[in-house]
Amino acid sequence: MLGEKIEDALNSQLNAELYSAYLYLAMNAYFESIDLGGFANWMRIQAQEELSHGMKIHDYIIQRGGRVILEEIEKPQTEWESPLDVFEHVYAHEQKVTGLINDLVNLSIEEKDHATNNFLQWFVEEQVEEEESSSGILNKVKLAGKDASSILMLDNEFGQRMFNPPSSE
Ligand SMILES: [Fe+2]
Ligand SMILES: [Fe+2]
Repeated sequence: MLGEKIEDALNSQLNAELYSAYLYLAMNAYFESIDLGGFANWMRIQAQEELSHGMKIHDYIIQRGGRVILEEIEKPQTEWESPLDVFEHVYAHEQKVTGLINDLVNLSIEEKDHATNNFLQWFVEEQVEEEESSSGILNKVKLAGKDASSILMLDNEFGQRMFNPPSSE
């Protein structure tokens, strides 16, 4: 059985993951609008990943006998100035999510909920990867600058990204 504080915090994180999916879908739409289909593809896959993070939490709440409560999902930003502007936002957003996960881990320790603490370790590792990949892309986009052929090369690279559903481990 989940404690009430942990249940509420997991439901908030579920909402945060769904918001992340929404934000990346908004970025997908932005890239489609400026005809960078590869960047758009990267964002679409990213949104699918965030949805799968949300479902992981959803399933865990149920597994522990808790109640999933779906709240309103905040409207994401819809316009950006450039691909660089988008990836600065992505990196900042992932750092913010890392902070949320760390707060949840701290709460699981305070509440002596070892199962939730163990469950959250997957997210701790995932955030290391999320920060690494978003800062890596941010640097590439920075290097490309306003050079159209470099941006098109990156667009081609990001067009190759495919969705790998995270394992249940
Ligand atoms: Fe996530
Ligand atoms: Fe993420």
